Amino acid sequence: MNLLVLHGPNLNMLGKREPQVYGTRTLDDINGSLQKLADELGCDLSFYQSNIEGELVTAIQGAVSGCDGILINPAAYTHTSIAIRDALSAVGLPCVEVHLSNIHRREPFRHTSMIAPVAIGQICGFGSDSYLLGLRALFNHIKNSD
Ligand code: DQA
Repeated sequence: MNLLVLHGPNLNMLGKREPQVYGTRTLDDINGSLQKLADELGCDLSFYQSNIEGELVTAIQGAVSGCDGILINPAAYTHTSIAIRDALSAVGLPCVEVHLSNIHRREPFRHTSMIAPVAIGQICGFGSDSYLLGLRALFNHIKNSD
């Protein structure tokens, strides 16, 4: 099973960025933990981070060949990007949306996700564990639908 892990804008600054909200782990730390879990589960991961909406759209489009599912933290694009939502919908791959913070406890503009309606589900509020829970959920969903 091949899965794509997508990180949206400003997530390259994790570790330094508002640690009281997003924690002190860097993106490399998170990717390392995901890789460790993927090794245990027996699946392959590719990682991609971009601050540019169109690049994320292109990465999603590219996943249609050879990828079985997408784990995505769309970051701020969660709340604005019809383009990312349409790309996920277009490729039709199973997708799990994750967030470090609990977006529903924060500012009202973070309560809406453009992505959630095209995702299998959303996991948020568990810091970097959101990614690990999301990977397990995506893996099990794909395995059970084989
Ligand atoms: C985030 C939540 C978003 O609202 C925010 O814009 C981010 C990070 C999270 O992981 O908690 O950049 O996706």
